Parts: sequence; C-alpha cells; structure tokens
Amino acid sequence: MIKSKNSIAHALLFVILFLLSSCYYDELVESEPLAEDVVISFTEDIQPILKTNCSSCHPLLVPALDLTENNAYESMVNEAYVIPENAEGSTFYQRLLGNPTIMPPSGALPDSDIEIIRRWIEQGAPNN
Ligand code: HEC
Repeated sequence: MIKSKNSIAHALLFVILFLLSSCYYDELVESEPLAEDVVISFTEDIQPILKTNCSSCHPLLVPALDLTENNAYESMVNEAYVIPENAEGSTFYQRLLGNPTIMPPSGALPDSDIEIIRRWIEQGAPNN
C-alpha cells in the first residue's frame, strides 16, 4: 500500500513539474517587449511602416496628409497630426487605434508597430 501511494505521489509530482515547465516555456517563446530606453528612429523605424501601410492613399486620397517618404515628417508634425510627447492627444495615433475610424482602413497595424509609433511620439517625435 505504501508503495502505491508513493507512486501516485511521484506521478502527481511529475505532472506538476511538467505543467510548471510548460508555463515557463510559454513565457520564453513570447516575443520580447521593446526595452524602455530604445530610441526610435523616424527614418529607420517609422518611415518603413508608413511606406508599406499608408503612402498608397496619403496624399492621393487625402492631400492634407502626405505620408510619402520626403514629405511625411513635415506633414505629420508641422500640420499637428502628431503632437510631440503626447501620443494620446495626436490625431495620427488615435487613428491607429480606430478613433474615429481605423487607419489603415483594411485593419489595424500589428500591436508592435503601433507601440513603435507611440514611443516615437512620446520621445518627442524627432526627425532622426
Ligand atoms: C486605402 C486608403 C488609405 C490607407 C492605406 C490609409 N488611409 Fe488614412 N485616410 C484615408 C481616407 C480616405 C481618409 C479620409 C476619411 C477619414 O477621415 O476616415 C483618411 C484619413 C486619415 C487621417 C485623418 C486625416 C485628417 O485630415 O483628419 C489620418 C491621421 C490617417 N488617415 C492616417 C493614416 C495612417 C497613419 C495610415 C497608415 C497606417 C493610413 N492613414 C492609411 C485613406 C487611407
């Protein structure tokens, strides 16, 4: 009797260890969050997102907001679509969240792209 209780205990211990190790594994495979102090570059990080997702319609359909390579920064920041250090208050950022309508119209950008844009605005929206 004692022997079989022991093997049940062993089996339970095995299951618990297995569950714990699989939780740990889940955490390992998740993509790493962007470190807080990473400096976002307008040219290297923001422009490619705009080029892929926005510049086909902006400015052709929306002349006020030109998101093509040489005009994007001026159009976004000088026309106050982006308010440096205030992502929540920026029309540009609000549109990525769907307020009042989602941009791009085909569906929201990946969370990681939205986060990069938010960080860049909060870092003062530099033309770097
Ligand atoms: C398929 C075409 C299309 C794409 C792609 C697109 N937009 Fe738009 N966008 C529009 C249209 C049309 C409007 C005007 C209607 C409206 O406000 O919803 C607009 C409006 C906006 C406005 C508000 C402009 C204003 O003057 O109020 C912002 C900001 C904006 N888009 C940002 C973006 C961003 C950022 C992207 C890429 C992530 C993007 N858009 C991609 C078509 C597009």
